[in-house]
Amino acid sequence: PPSHPAIALPRLIAHRGLSAHAPENTLTAVKAAHDAGYQWVELDVQLLGDGTPVIWHDATLKRCSDGHGRLATLDLAAVRKLDVGAWFGDGFRGERMATLSDMLELLVELDMGVNMELKVTSKRSGTELAEVVVPRLLKSLPPERLILSSFDQPSLQHARSLADASLLPIGVLTESVPEKWRARCEALDAYSIHTDWTRLSARRTREIKAAGYRLLCYTPNDPAAFAQRWEWGVDSAISDDPALFSGIAPPPGT
Ligand code: G3P
Ligand code: MG
Repeated sequence: PPSHPAIALPRLIAHRGLSAHAPENTLTAVKAAHDAGYQWVELDVQLLGDGTPVIWHDATLKRCSDGHGRLATLDLAAVRKLDVGAWFGDGFRGERMATLSDMLELLVELDMGVNMELKVTSKRSGTELAEVVVPRLLKSLPPERLILSSFDQPSLQHARSLADASLLPIGVLTESVPEKWRARCEALDAYSIHTDWTRLSARRTREIKAAGYRLLCYTPNDPAAFAQRWEWGVDSAISDDPALFSGIAPPPGT
């Protein structure tokens, strides 16, 4: 098996930053996660039309800004003019879209870990996204504080070609764990599998854990319903509101 870095993976990871309490995927949402005591966040990264990697989930601006249009058609100067906080609440007015560089600087300053998700939202290839993002991640973050994930297999394959498992932990992200999960993990020297908690079975959980992979679930916001997943052996919950799980999530590493 590949030698993975010794990641102190927390039970709770703040999804898109502390997205229940701050505008998702912003610097403020990451600071809020840190202030609330969370060491790790999950964030989405994609490319603008000019090739700048930015922290953003959707293909378009509509839901989370005061602008509209597709990210793939815009440049940095255009998106910097947008307000990406006011949609969430008046107190967040003035928030600007974060570039990957802005975000990495903050993560380093706060000594935080990140599950960075490569988001392929346009016809542009995931290979190009990985090509731009991976070297920047490797330059800023130690492997103990990084997991790179994606639904897009070519992105992850290209990422792996750029760095081996000891430098770049990779998480296979799936809506439901496929029959051939083991082959997919082996081909990527993966560290973890990340999946929708509602579609996971006890049997699959046991298989994945027995094979030595970490298992992370998105996006539970119902701690009572999720309790059984901890019992099955799930390692971490990636939640919009991780405080809901405090006192319920088992201690790390148990
Ligand atoms: O990385 C876990 C989760 O964020 C995947 O789905 O749509 O929230 O990015 P989405
Ligand atoms: Mg995501």
